[in-house]
Amino acid sequence: MRITVQRKTLAEYEVDLVDATLLEVLGAIKTTQDNTLTYSSGCRSSVCGSCAVRVNGKEVLACSYKVEDGDLVEPLKNVPVLRDLVVDMEKAYSFNAKAKAWQTLLSDGVSVSHENEKINEIQSDCILCGSCYSACPVYSVNEEFLGPFALTRVWKYVSDVRESDSSEKIATIQTDGVWDCTLCNECTLVCPQNISSKADIEKLR
Ligand code: SF4
Ligand code: SF4
Ligand code: FES
Repeated sequence: MRITVQRKTLAEYEVDLVDATLLEVLGAIKTTQDNTLTYSSGCRSSVCGSCAVRVNGKEVLACSYKVEDGDLVEPLKNVPVLRDLVVDMEKAYSFNAKAKAWQTLLSDGVSVSHENEKINEIQSDCILCGSCYSACPVYSVNEEFLGPFALTRVWKYVSDVRESDSSEKIATIQTDGVWDCTLCNECTLVCPQNISSKADIEKLR
């Protein structure tokens, strides 16, 4: 099969693999054809979030996506490209702090019921792959938008029954936050963990 990878220019590779993941194909190219090809990976099992890229314009995890003939592989959008498929997530991750996406004040003696846990259980599954951030159209007009994964984390903490003061977080997300989201749902469609940041933003509103 043939795949094209966006490097400094478009690079085409022929690979003799069947039913392979994109990560396996990239590894085969690197070891047998071009050892300068650069990409990120870690767990190889959809857990660490480091291998997210775009295939034919849609964000995927390279270690779970099965390659098809003719695929175009590109780095994530809305983040600086360091080299080939490796991007710099530093600014994107900094939005977690800017959004105050952490627990502020834990109340003593509050018991957490099973129903309470269900309210924000899935948000804990975020692997910070950056797919939602890459898919979000708001960054083309506002580079300071707090963004889907940071706002999902804010929801996780303000909805926690043990959180005794969420007012500062709610105040923080009024600017470059919940009102800048267009509710387009692109973040939900690409999330490998089935998290809907769009739904979390609606709840925060
Ligand atoms: S729903 Fe909001 S956060 Fe999600 S991709 Fe669309 S604009 Fe971005
Ligand atoms: S919310 Fe989903 S798409 Fe966004 S960083 Fe977390 S795991 Fe990735
Ligand atoms: S290598 Fe860890 S998620 Fe793909």
